[in-house]
Amino acid sequence: MRHDISHLVDGATYRYGNPFALWRWMRENEPVVWHEPGIFPGFWSLTRFDEVREVLRDATTFSSSSGILLRPLAQGEDPGSNRTLALSDPPRHNVLRGAIAGWFAPRNLRLLAQSLNSAAHSIVREAVRASRIDFVTDVAAKLPLEVVCTFLGIPDEDRPSIVEWSTDAFCAGTAEERSIAHLQILDYFGDLVERRRVEPGEDLVSVLAGVRFEGEHLPLDEVVLNCDNLLVGGTENVRLAMSGGMLALLERPEQWALLRDGFDDVVDSAVEEILRWTSSATHILRRAQRDVVLGGQRIRRGDLVVCWLTSANRDPAQFADPDVLDVRRTPNRHLALGAGPHYCVGTQLAKLEIRAVLGEFFAQVGQVAVDGEPEYLDSIVVNGLRRLPLRLTAADRVPSSAHRTLAGIPG
Ligand code: HEM
Repeated sequence: MRHDISHLVDGATYRYGNPFALWRWMRENEPVVWHEPGIFPGFWSLTRFDEVREVLRDATTFSSSSGILLRPLAQGEDPGSNRTLALSDPPRHNVLRGAIAGWFAPRNLRLLAQSLNSAAHSIVREAVRASRIDFVTDVAAKLPLEVVCTFLGIPDEDRPSIVEWSTDAFCAGTAEERSIAHLQILDYFGDLVERRRVEPGEDLVSVLAGVRFEGEHLPLDEVVLNCDNLLVGGTENVRLAMSGGMLALLERPEQWALLRDGFDDVVDSAVEEILRWTSSATHILRRAQRDVVLGGQRIRRGDLVVCWLTSANRDPAQFADPDVLDVRRTPNRHLALGAGPHYCVGTQLAKLEIRAVLGEFFAQVGQVAVDGEPEYLDSIVVNGLRRLPLRLTAADRVPSSAHRTLAGIPG
C-alpha cells in the first residue's frame, strides 16, 4: 500500500505520529519523489543518505539563495534570501563565512572552554537543587543561549530579555506570541548593531557590522538578519540535540552506563551518535540551477529539492542497525550538521556544549528519572522535545569539572 507522503509536511506527524516509519517506506519505495504544490510549493523529497549528501555537497547545482526551509506559499519569499550566510551562494557566502568562521575555530573555542564548562557546572547545579525540572528549558536551552550571547557581545544586563524573548520565540503557545517575541529580538539587534557601528567591540555583532561586500558595508537589516540567524542556529538545535540525547540515554540504561563508566573514552562517539540520533534539523531545502538526474528522476532547473536529514541519518545503506542508539558507533559520518560548503559553522561549539552538559550531569547527578510525559514539537523544520520533565537527586560526591576544561577541542 502506498503511504501518504503529504504527512511529511504536517507538523502533527512529528508531534504525535511516526515520521520514521514513513521515511523508511519512502527510502525503500520512492527515495526521490515529487510533492504536488498545496500549502507549500511543489518540491522533490530526498530520503536516502546518498542523494542527500550529493545535493548538500554540490552548492553550484543546488542553490541556497532562495531559502533553505520549506515555507508556506502564503508567506512569500524568505526575508533572508540572498542576504544571510546560510541563504547565500558564492561569492557572497565565502565573504560572510570567512568573516565569522574564526570565531568557531578551535583556537577561539579553547579560550572559551573554561567559561563554557563553568556555565554548564552552574546550570546543572541549579537543576540538581531544584530537583524537579524541565530539562529542555532548565538545562538544554540555557547553556547554548549563554554562549551565543557571549559570542554576540550581548551585555549581561540585556541577557534576561534575550532569554525571555528567545523562550517565547521558540516555545510560546500561539504563532502570534512567537512572532511578537521574534520581532522584539530583531528590534534589539537593530539597536545593538547601530551601537557597534559607532563603537565596535570584540564580538560577532561588531564583526558582521564591519563586513564589506563589493566594497560596501552590509545594510543594517542584513546585519540584523545574520545576528538573528546566529542566535537561532546557535540555540535551537543544540537544545534539541541535548534534550533528545538525554531522553534516549535514559530510555537505554545500558547505553547510559557505558557512557557514565567510560566517559573519557566514549564521550566523543556518544556526542556524534546523539547528533545522528536526534538529527534535529529535519530538512534542508535547495533549488536546482540546472537539469540533473537524482536517484533515476529528472530534476528540472528551478525545482525545489528537500533533503530530509533525519531520514538520511537512519539509512541502513549507510549505518548498520540505524534504529539502534549505539554510543560507541564508529564510523558515524552522519549529516545532522549538513555537508559541503554550508556545513554547520558551529559544529565544534555544539559538540563542546553537549559534552559539557553530559559531563556535568554524570558528575553532579546521582539518580535521574523521567517524571512525566515528554512532549514533542509540532514543526516540520526542527524535530525534538518541547518538554522533558525529570526528577534528580544529587551525587554523593561532586568532583570538580576542571579536568574536562580543554577536552573535546580538536587540534
Ligand atoms: C546540534 C546542533 C546543531 C545542528 C544540528 C545544526 C545543524 C545545521 C545544519 C544542518 C546546517 C546546514 C545548513 C545548510 O546546509 O543549508 C547548519 C548550518 C549553520 N549552522 Fe548549525 N547546527 C547546530 C549548531 C549550531 C551552532 C552552535 C551554531 C552557532 C552558534 C550554528 C550556526 C550555523 C550557521 C551560521 C550555519 C550556516 C552556515 C553556512 O551556511 O555556511 N549551528 N547547521
